[in-house]
Amino acid sequence: LQQLLFKDPTKPPLVFHYFPFFGSTVVYGMDPYKFFSDCREKYGDTFTFVMLGRKMTATLGPKGNDFVFNGRLSEVSAEDAYAHLTVPVFGEGVVYDVPNHVLMEQKKFMKFGLTVENFRSYVPLIVEQVEDYIKRSKFFKGANGSVPLSDIIPELTIFTAARTLQGKEIRDALDGSFAKLYHHLDSGFTPMNFLFPWFPFPQNKRRDHAQRTMAQFYMDKITKRRANEKNDEDQERSDMMWNLMNCSYKDGRKVPDKEVAHMMIALLMAGQHTSMATITWMLLHVAAQPKLVARILAEQKRVFGDELAPLSYEKLVLECTFLGHIIRETLRIHPPLHSILRKVKSPMHIDGTNWVVPKGHYLLAAPGVSSMDEKYFKNPLAFDPSRWEGQKAEEEAEKFDFGFGLISKGTASPYLPFGAGRHRCIGEQFANVQLMTIMATFVRNFEIQRPGGGSDVPAPDYSSMIALPAPPSIIEWVKRDP
Ligand code: HEM
Repeated sequence: LQQLLFKDPTKPPLVFHYFPFFGSTVVYGMDPYKFFSDCREKYGDTFTFVMLGRKMTATLGPKGNDFVFNGRLSEVSAEDAYAHLTVPVFGEGVVYDVPNHVLMEQKKFMKFGLTVENFRSYVPLIVEQVEDYIKRSKFFKGANGSVPLSDIIPELTIFTAARTLQGKEIRDALDGSFAKLYHHLDSGFTPMNFLFPWFPFPQNKRRDHAQRTMAQFYMDKITKRRANEKNDEDQERSDMMWNLMNCSYKDGRKVPDKEVAHMMIALLMAGQHTSMATITWMLLHVAAQPKLVARILAEQKRVFGDELAPLSYEKLVLECTFLGHIIRETLRIHPPLHSILRKVKSPMHIDGTNWVVPKGHYLLAAPGVSSMDEKYFKNPLAFDPSRWEGQKAEEEAEKFDFGFGLISKGTASPYLPFGAGRHRCIGEQFANVQLMTIMATFVRNFEIQRPGGGSDVPAPDYSSMIALPAPPSIIEWVKRDP
């Protein structure tokens, strides 16, 4: 009753709830998009809800995206929203454990390791990992079969990302003890850790041990590499670790080995869940519409010839536009991060209203709401890559812009799966290379469909940090003639 009678006209509307501290935690957590859509109907694009005592102000739509992504440094902080979750996992001294200007420098260092030249060398390495995986996997024996994506995609994603971004040493270590460490580290990267940072979950001990051991593993590799610098010709001198080992901050300070190690872990974690979710959704959608699989193959033949010459970076990324549209469409319906958060540091007025979001609230952007809004995309829930055809050449060019682009122009766009503004993703081009190569390799090797030729795609499950299809997500495959 209090909520209904005492509306504060200077604040965004408060979502009605029965239990003060819990607020909307459960409805939001079960299905954030349904929650946003219900709230939007009642309150409009801007509203505040309570999540375990925190006040979360959601600002939906392109203008809302802009409000969050373009917030000034004096107004919003990403580190205040994310540090408690990420610092124990990535380690100290990097990303959200440092002031924003240091993160900006670190993002540049990481971006230096993502050159076109590196991407060129990554394509055959990814193909090799996927083909090797298919050969070894128990799910791909014989001429046809079915495979639970929830079993294979996490492995395929980490093997391909490790072999390329992390280097051969880390990829090889994943066949041994490193895999277990990674799982222990990952077990501390959950919504529960986000919601209850102070709670001593038993897995936090394993997480902390894994973080220290993994960081030490990287530091030992760094020491070894430095010691062998002069006489080891085999070192991968252009890889990410090598690049970070040789970076210096603007004030002249060399990046300490510990920070190199922690940035390597941050890269591993940032790319793993996001890419893994995207590949899974992408495979499910194309398997549900076999005509899309046929079109991807036809494009491969047009670009690489009927004999399907080996994949190469330039041809794949610049000429396989249909495959590019498949990825774009997947990220439109399934942006892996459904909620992007900032903590409000000073009161923020919302244009065109009398509302001020007070200091201490969290801001929440959900670009998935606008990318699934029929105002911007016709028949928004249909998976239809052809909607991206005929895009202006400049837009295509922008997508492959390898400039720094950390401050993106388009913070008010309805389509922002990689975020925007100063916290925009640096991994987009890498993800594109990884996703395109994995998908092309799959389609070259297999015809795929949903069980029994069904056209259904499983519903998203929001219980982990990232929106994933409910397991097991099965697809059926038939090996193509070699
Ligand atoms: C930031 C999405 C892959 C590294 C972000 C943000 C989004 C995002 C939405 C902005 C977060 C915010 O504003 O709070 C994605 C998606 C991916 C992907 C959809 C794949 C499909 C990757 C990969 C890497 C990576 C492969 C590493 C190679 C980063 C980093 C940031 C970031 C370092 C910056 C965080 C910040 O400045 O606060 N990503 N990402 N991402 N991503 Fe990605």
